[in-house]
Amino acid sequence: MTAPTSPEPRGSGDPGRAAGTSPHLSRTRSFSRRGGRMPQGHRTAYEHLAGRYVVDVPRGAGGVTTVDPDFRLDLPGTFGRQAPLVVEVGSGSGDALRAGAQARPDWDVLAVEVWRPGIAQTLARMGEHPLPNVRFVEADACLALSTMLEAGAAHEVWTFFPDPWPKARHHKRRLIQPAFVDTVHRLLEPGGLWRIATDWSDYAAHLREVMAADSRWTLASTGRAPLRPRTRFELKGLAAGREIVDLAYRA
Ligand SMILES: C[S@@+](CC[C@H](N)C(=O)[O-])C[C@H]1O[C@@H](n2cnc3c(N)ncnc32)[C@H](O)[C@@H]1O
Repeated sequence: MTAPTSPEPRGSGDPGRAAGTSPHLSRTRSFSRRGGRMPQGHRTAYEHLAGRYVVDVPRGAGGVTTVDPDFRLDLPGTFGRQAPLVVEVGSGSGDALRAGAQARPDWDVLAVEVWRPGIAQTLARMGEHPLPNVRFVEADACLALSTMLEAGAAHEVWTFFPDPWPKARHHKRRLIQPAFVDTVHRLLEPGGLWRIATDWSDYAAHLREVMAADSRWTLASTGRAPLRPRTRFELKGLAAGREIVDLAYRA
């Protein structure tokens, strides 16, 4: 089910920016890595399970983290049923994904994650506890989610501990920016929820600012997202004395 990958154009002087002129090629990336070494068990799990869980998406001109903008994901065909959809952006090693999918077998969970070793680790864990309501798209969510799904397709979107990019000169690489906020709004059904968590207070302030500037959203909750388990990012933040901020916005 997974497509063979082709090399992506090398970046220019700015490590967050890929070379080229089209929007796909000149985008600023919110992620720093896509591949990397994997333990043998994770590699084996990916080899055996990707065909079942990782959707084979056609790539766009920008390479392996892109999705052909003309491609539309057939959700009932992908999950084999029709069910409320949760889209998790940046599932990492899959803690929230697995906990959520286990707790809500009546929901489908689509993870859009660009970091293959994280997907492989999630699959290794799912090898022991298969989750028929989970699928992955291995791609840059900023691109994939702007075209791959119909408007209103998602019941909830989850973005837990997005990469903080704490240095001021890297703030432009933060995932949650007005353009992505617009993408998520399009994706959610009316009244659908975007659940976000971060342990970086200035990212939380940035989020509140960006969301307040878009009058289509209502702040629905600042309580812990009900299905969000404690991940190593939360524990790391707490150990460093940072406060965990949960924000849920209604579209
Ligand atoms: C700090 S980790 C958090 C992982 C997970 N949500 C957790 O709480 O454990 C952020 C994740 O977002 C992914 N990511 C960053 N930008 C992305 C993008 N544009 N599209 C898809 N995934 C992205 C990274 O690869 C990384 O796995």
